[in-house]
Amino acid sequence: MDIILFGPPGAGKGTQAGLLQQRLGLLPISTGALLRARAAISDELGQELEAIISRGELVPDGMTVGILRERLNEDDCARGVIFDGFPRTQQQAEILDEMLADMDRPLRAVVHMQVNDDILIDRISGRFSCAQCGQTYHDRLMPTKVAGVCDSCGSDKFTRRSDDNPDTMRVRLAAFNQQTRPLLAYYENSGLLKTIDGLASVEEVTRQLMQAIDVKTC
Ligand code: AP5
Repeated sequence: MDIILFGPPGAGKGTQAGLLQQRLGLLPISTGALLRARAAISDELGQELEAIISRGELVPDGMTVGILRERLNEDDCARGVIFDGFPRTQQQAEILDEMLADMDRPLRAVVHMQVNDDILIDRISGRFSCAQCGQTYHDRLMPTKVAGVCDSCGSDKFTRRSDDNPDTMRVRLAAFNQQTRPLLAYYENSGLLKTIDGLASVEEVTRQLMQAIDVKTC
């Protein structure tokens, strides 16, 4: 089963992808994480990617699709994946359709996590993640249970993303509204689109998500 989590930066895609992985065993694939990992290699491509991501702009389709295609062909993706942050352009959506058709894997659903832009800067400004396992938290909205210790793996090392600042966030939001939001019509037409309330509590969003993809065991 392959599903797409669709929503602006800070909508909660990564948070819910991690929870769905625990419940359903589907593998989250975040193109943002894949691109950040590639950007961390300080060759010419890495530096180019780092600059684009830090500005908050979209990485060109060719680079993003290449990295995604390589990842999707790995064995651990065979049971199904949760696409987090992909597709983000019409071209990416069409290429994904072709890739999945070639693999005989029809998409189960595209879940739109609907939120207001107003809350997103607050969510992003307070976000931090475990440096070891990647679990995401928020200073105020989703702190660790024990201060300074990751709930999932017990690590005491945390990290914040360089693009999680109000100025870059405005560019990321503009990119979403101009280049990505139009995909809602594309998926509406294909009958795959489900919309859930991304402003609800994390637990309630998970419940709506499971319902949207028609999985009963919650
Ligand atoms: P990417 O890494 O994909 O970032 P994003 O889409 O901007 O999304 P985020 O990861 O910021 O937010 P999220 O929705 O996962 O929210 P989260 O769950 O963390 O992309 C980064 C960059 O890479 C892009 O700008 C672009 O340059 C490039 N890129 C990536 N994919 C690309 C593509 N396909 N094409 C081209 N370029 C691409 O939650 C946010 C915070 O809110 C957390 O602190 C969390 O604890 C909290 N929170 C979550 N849910 C709730 C809730 N229900 N209630 C209260 N708090 C909550």
